[in-house]
Amino acid sequence: MKAILVIHGPNLNLLGEREPDVYGSVTLDAINAAVTALAAELKVSVAFFQSNHEGEMLEKIGQARKEFQAIIINPAAYTHTSVALRDAVAAAGLPTVEVHLSNIYAREEFRHKSLIAPVCKGQISGFGPMSYLLALRAVCNLLT
Ligand code: DQA
Repeated sequence: MKAILVIHGPNLNLLGEREPDVYGSVTLDAINAAVTALAAELKVSVAFFQSNHEGEMLEKIGQARKEFQAIIINPAAYTHTSVALRDAVAAAGLPTVEVHLSNIYAREEFRHKSLIAPVCKGQISGFGPMSYLLALRAVCNLLT
């Protein structure tokens, strides 16, 4: 069975209470449960990792090749700042899909640029929790 790593970046542990007007009221646990349910339907396995620390995310991505065939990542604020995360995704060499709950292009200008997207297969932005489900379908398609 193909295994997919889902990485949630900084402050996504606060979903449900964090700026609900922007990110909605669904918690990270509920998103992970929905992704797990779809993964069962699509006959893939998923593992989840959330961190507020860039270094921890780098280490997880660095080890991903050993266990996983693809990555779904919401790099959160690091999307717009982290060359290190971009280099880690490029080095992992796994098909990767970038996800955002909000439409980053409809928000402040500093969110319009993703340093990570150019080393990903694609980006899904703006569909709330459904962004993750669309990403899972995209990744499964890439793996078949
Ligand atoms: C986000 C968008 C980022 O700009 C922001 O820093 C986040 C969440 C999203 O999912 O919409 O933390 O990645």
